[in-house]
Amino acid sequence: MKLLIAENYESLSKAAAHIVAQVVTAKPTAVLGLATGSTPIGMYRELARLHREEGVDFSRVTTFNLDEYVGLPPHHPQSYHTFMQEHFFRHVNIPLEQTNIPRGDAPDLQAECRRYEAAIAAAGGIDLQVLGIGGNGHIGFNEPGSDAETTTRIVELAQSTIKANARFFESIDDVPTKAVSMGIKTILAAKRIMLLASGEAKADAVRRMLEGEKTPDVPASLLQLHSDVTVIADKEAAALLS
Ligand code: F6R
Repeated sequence: MKLLIAENYESLSKAAAHIVAQVVTAKPTAVLGLATGSTPIGMYRELARLHREEGVDFSRVTTFNLDEYVGLPPHHPQSYHTFMQEHFFRHVNIPLEQTNIPRGDAPDLQAECRRYEAAIAAAGGIDLQVLGIGGNGHIGFNEPGSDAETTTRIVELAQSTIKANARFFESIDDVPTKAVSMGIKTILAAKRIMLLASGEAKADAVRRMLEGEKTPDVPASLLQLHSDVTVIADKEAAALLS
C-alpha cells in the first residue's frame, strides 16, 4: 500500500481532493465510491471549491456510497443521504439520479443489498473507492470479523462504533444499531482505493492496517490484498508507524 503522510488535516483533504479530481478529469464518466463521517468533509469542501473555481466537472460521474443506517429514511437529518447532500452533492453539478446510496428504509433489506451490488456491477464497477477507517479498523461498516468474501449486507454496528457516532445524534439511544454496508469483497473490487485517516484516535488502526497481519479482526488490513491502495494519513494518524 502506498502511504502519504500529510502535515495536517487541511493538506490531507487537499491531497485527497486532488486525487479524486484527477480521476474525474481523466475519465469524465468515472464511478466513485464515497464515504461519510468526519474525515472526508474537508475533501468534499475542497472538491466543491475545485468545481466552483476550477471547473472540475461532475456532470457525468456516478457515485456509490458505502453505507446507510438501517431504519433511517433519506430525509432524516442523520441519514447518510442527508450527509452527502449537505457536504457534497448540492455543491457540485452531479445529477442526483447518478448518485447511489443504499436505502436503509427499504421494505426488503435483503433485496436492497442484492439490488445495490447489481447496480455497482451495471455501472461497470468502481474506479476509485474513498474510505475512512474506524478506530477498531472497520472500513465501511465492516466491523471486526468481516472477511474478504463479504458483499453488501446488513451489519450490526460494534458498540465502539455506536459510541463514536453518538456525537451526531441527540443521544446514544438514537444511534441505529444496524446498517446496510458494502462488503470487503465489494470494496476490494474497486480498481483503485484511497483511505483517509486523521487524528490520534486512528493511529493504532492505521498501524494494524499497514503493518499488521491480514485478518478479519482488522478489516482494513484486508486492503493489503489490493494492488492499488493509497493511504493518506495526517501526522497524528501516522504516529505509531515504525
Ligand atoms: C462512513 C464509513 C465509516 C467511516 C469511519 C470513520 O461511510 O463507512 O467506515 O469512514 O467510521 O469515521 P470518521 O471519519 O467520522 O472518523
